[in-house]
Amino acid sequence: MSKIFSGVQPTGDLHLGNYLGAIRNWVRLQDDFDCLFCVVDMHAITNWQDPAALAASTREVTAALLASGIDAERHIVFNQSQVPGHAELAWIFNCVARMGWLNRMTQFKEKAGKNRENASVGLFAYPNLMAADILLYKATHVPVGEDQKQHLELTRDIAQKFNNDFKCDMFPIVEPLIFGAATRVMSLRDGTSKMSKSDPSEQSRITMTDDADTIAKKIRKAKTDPEALPDTQKGLEGRAEAANLMGIYAALSDTEVADVCAKFGGQQFSAFKQDLADLAVAKLAPIQDEMRRLMADPGHVDAVLAAGGQKARALAEPILAEIKQTVGYLKP
Ligand code: TYM
Repeated sequence: MSKIFSGVQPTGDLHLGNYLGAIRNWVRLQDDFDCLFCVVDMHAITNWQDPAALAASTREVTAALLASGIDAERHIVFNQSQVPGHAELAWIFNCVARMGWLNRMTQFKEKAGKNRENASVGLFAYPNLMAADILLYKATHVPVGEDQKQHLELTRDIAQKFNNDFKCDMFPIVEPLIFGAATRVMSLRDGTSKMSKSDPSEQSRITMTDDADTIAKKIRKAKTDPEALPDTQKGLEGRAEAANLMGIYAALSDTEVADVCAKFGGQQFSAFKQDLADLAVAKLAPIQDEMRRLMADPGHVDAVLAAGGQKARALAEPILAEIKQTVGYLKP
């Protein structure tokens, strides 16, 4: 049986990269798969989080998922810390994964920066918890943005090693689902670096809570080059900022980058940016309205997470029991 698992961290405002690279694709997969969508609050604390801000952000991210069209009745929406099996399986995977594998993770290197000695052990072991998230439910497909690809390769390695070590067929080898015109949305200030929550410049990203004026201003100020827009996709080579903005337009309008080039080729950035801002506002405004409505009723959001947590625990428990037995733990 095909099953989807994916997750998002509740660390500050979601941005357009999270939406176009992941959440929007999750919405589309709901008709064809059984899905679990997880607000990964355990991953969030690999860097220190203000407790009140973490709780608020967990609710806000949940509201964003629901407002974007995730159906929590038909599928499972929950926050990770509600299901103890994630931590239990992560420990087992800490003992399956090799130091060398984790040493190769580029995201750890980026996030730890120069001061590796001072990074939390959790940040280093983060990909093992991510593998546990997915494999605790024996999920088969994982829709993510491009930046998570290496973590999913590690998940496959862990699944394979566990199956080999214990001579069993416990875990499926998961398939990443990376699709759409915006699998890697770049910073509005620098077309060579990823749009990210941790970029110190607010101008680098459009967030799910930005109002129409802010969105228009950020797009107007986005870095570009002096040339007119190209009329073919080939003309985007070596023009990272133009490629990024046209990619965002394609994703938001559900077309191909080639169509966007055909439509705007030869025009100046100023006119295109106006159209892009109008499009972004038109697409995000209804989601933002619904987010505001949901955030005014935090009790409802908490109830959705509690119901999701209950459904997730029920799915995880028999699988975790099977895993523990395979490892050789005595039954309680
Ligand atoms: P996170 O919270 O950083 O991002 C959530 C999703 O958004 C995608 N994304 C992007 N896509 C395109 N362009 C961007 N600039 C961009 N920035 C972020 C991410 O690829 C991701 O799909 N480790 C994960 C969370 C996680 C998870 C999991 C995902 C924990 N357990 C199990 C899948 C399965 C993360 O930090 O995502």
